[in-house]
Amino acid sequence: MPDSLKEKPAKITTHVLQNMKLHGEKISMLTAYDYSLARIIDNSGIDVILVGDSASNVMAGYETTLPITLNEMIYHAASVVRAVKRALVVVDLPFGTYQGNSKEALNSAIKIMKETGAGAVKLEGGKEIRESVERILSAGIPVMGHLGLTPQSIHKFGTYVVRAKEKAEAEKLIEDAQILEETGCFSIVLEKVPALLGKKVASGLKIPVIGIGAGRYVDGQVLVIHDMLGITQEFSPRFLRRYHNLYAEIKGAVENYVSDIKRGDFPSEKEQY
Ligand code: KIV
Repeated sequence: MPDSLKEKPAKITTHVLQNMKLHGEKISMLTAYDYSLARIIDNSGIDVILVGDSASNVMAGYETTLPITLNEMIYHAASVVRAVKRALVVVDLPFGTYQGNSKEALNSAIKIMKETGAGAVKLEGGKEIRESVERILSAGIPVMGHLGLTPQSIHKFGTYVVRAKEKAEAEKLIEDAQILEETGCFSIVLEKVPALLGKKVASGLKIPVIGIGAGRYVDGQVLVIHDMLGITQEFSPRFLRRYHNLYAEIKGAVENYVSDIKRGDFPSEKEQY
């Protein structure tokens, strides 16, 4: 474990994240959807693990995040929580489980917290989901907001391009961020907006702003684990830094396995009983 992590708290809470912003320490966040990867990520010193509804894309192979269900999110989240000792685990409320109905939002959030043991939930949207956020918070459940490119609204946007380049959308985003902070969100994810807007939002709020394609001036960064490890190949936005090419590594290993079997080389004398 790197030296800088040695004095870190044994368990990351929403209060720890608030303190990190106060002291100018950047927050690291990655997605995870299963026990084995979550265990590696947690042991590597990550601060926050997001069980994102991007599971719909990278785990289930859907084109959008819309099809994934609450029970499927719960399955992924419970698997992650079983592996994690230190990071704060945040779970996405999937599409259709909170929009336009704050009572349903509360029920969805309670089901996630009860059945997974996670530490917080995340919802997409600003002013229009305020009532749902308030109701969830009233049950003592920490809420992370999500603004900018909100993939559950892809059919409204029509495209995954950078959001809030125009003044009107940028102003609405700043207002939404203030509403989420006032309502009581402990943090906000800001996706795919200009870096200077990210800077303005982060410096105007007391709560941490965690960016994905929102530039370097925000309080932390999040990436989808399959993208940063290079398991996915077709998705290559400018903001994505790939730390590995696992697609090629896994493919090479599987090709060697197939060829060893075909040649009668596996198993060897030593590998049998
Ligand atoms: O679902 C997800 O993975 C997310 C991240 C992109 C922030 O919401």
